[in-house]
Amino acid sequence: MPFDEFEMSDEKGQKEQDLSRIGVSLPSHLLESFDAILYDRGYSSRSEGIRDAIRTYIRYYKWMGELTGERQGVITMVYDHHQRNLLEAITEVEHQYSDMIHASLHSHVTHSRCVEILLIRGDAKEIKKVSERLMSLKGVESVKLTTIPLEG
Ligand code: NI
Repeated sequence: MPFDEFEMSDEKGQKEQDLSRIGVSLPSHLLESFDAILYDRGYSSRSEGIRDAIRTYIRYYKWMGELTGERQGVITMVYDHHQRNLLEAITEVEHQYSDMIHASLHSHVTHSRCVEILLIRGDAKEIKKVSERLMSLKGVESVKLTTIPLEG
């Protein structure tokens, strides 16, 4: 099935050639968070982790740019329902794009967190716009978009 879903993966095993050395300044809390992830994932070196993070960043950017044409999409959104005015803001976005959003499913995950799944259909650029609008709302923790082309 021709799903387009952004997924993290690493490309270990590929021979690295022509390595360039760069120096990067980072806030210490950012580096600490990054190192904690590398430790959890079992990376042997920080350089390897940075290479994988940059590859993921590049692939994500390309993936976002490549989505075109009419698509069926699924938006999975996690948010904090205690966030002031968030429910109203989400409802407003959903009403604004009601011609594209065909169904929604809501589940109360914990006392304060909700997951909402939207079925959306339309032009890829518009679908991305809706995802980004939702992600920009304060209190929305994550938005994941999966799409399927309607033709091909
Ligand atoms: Ni809920």
